[in-house]
Amino acid sequence: MDDWRGRTALVTGAADGIGFALCEALVARGARVFMSDVAAERLKERAASLGAACAPCDVSDAAAVDELVSRAWSELGPLDLLCANAGVIVPGSILDAKQADIDLVLGVNVWGVVHACRAFVRRMRETGRGGEMLLTGSEHSLSNPAYLRSVPMHLYNLSKHAVLSIGDSLRAELEPEGIRVSVLCPGPVVSGLLENSNAYRASRGGGTKRDPSSPDLSDVDTERLAKLYMPASRAAEIALAGLRAGAFVIPTHAFELEDAEARFRDVRAGFELLGPS
Ligand SMILES: NC(=O)c1ccc[n+]([C@@H]2O[C@H](COP(=O)([O-])OP(=O)(O)OC[C@H]3O[C@@H](n4cnc5c(N)ncnc54)[C@H](O)[C@@H]3O)[C@@H](O)[C@H]2O)c1
Repeated sequence: MDDWRGRTALVTGAADGIGFALCEALVARGARVFMSDVAAERLKERAASLGAACAPCDVSDAAAVDELVSRAWSELGPLDLLCANAGVIVPGSILDAKQADIDLVLGVNVWGVVHACRAFVRRMRETGRGGEMLLTGSEHSLSNPAYLRSVPMHLYNLSKHAVLSIGDSLRAELEPEGIRVSVLCPGPVVSGLLENSNAYRASRGGGTKRDPSSPDLSDVDTERLAKLYMPASRAAEIALAGLRAGAFVIPTHAFELEDAEARFRDVRAGFELLGPS
């Protein structure tokens, strides 16, 4: 187990799932962690269970994220790691998505990451410090996974591709400043993602308990899917091993490579069809 004693981290989306598991893994390694989430009650309970500091924050609100980073910085001291992990899913096709759902998914999954990176890097620059940013993308950052292609998740795909793109752009800019960027790309992980997303959506008036958003899995090999699910604690261990190894893309499941290679074959096919120019 690597040693995080004396190091500090801010984790968004920390009240459940992968975010909470990241906090547990970091605390177990000796790090001091500041936890944040939009689900204030669960956050308080979860932070108390780890003896960690916490503050609620909706990552889609730039000013609130700025305040969060300042607060974490003043309570823990300079931060070494940002885990921009908060995320939501609203299944469906982009062809008939409601504007409110487009704004909701992009607000959390894309703008939430941008707000956190901006606030974190600003303080890094003010203090001339290096550090690390772990952005939670998805297998949906790397491809439109074959086993789930019958389930439209267009907004999620779009937002998670954007996370990979943000990470890729920022790593080029920030490497000379000693700030490393990695994108965690989990495959299926046991969590409350759909339920928590529905709760957040309902809190914003975009759906009700009687109108939850849920994917139609009737064409999916659910037996295979069930076998692929990994505990959040395992995904967190892989994430920290990826940081230690200095990986830019941190995948959690071997099968993700097949999907990524299929995408690359599409790119190659374009070149082959058109020939040299
Ligand atoms: N579970 C999976 O299979 C899986 C796979 C790939 C990627 N991911 C990604 O992992 C991340 C964590 O998801 P998870 O699966 O642990 O789900 P989760 O729902 O257990 O955790 C997400 C947390 O983010 C919080 N959150 C939602 N909207 C927020 C907002 N506006 N501001 C602050 N916090 C907010 C939720 O309250 C929740 O606690 C997400 O970015 C998700 O897209 C999950």
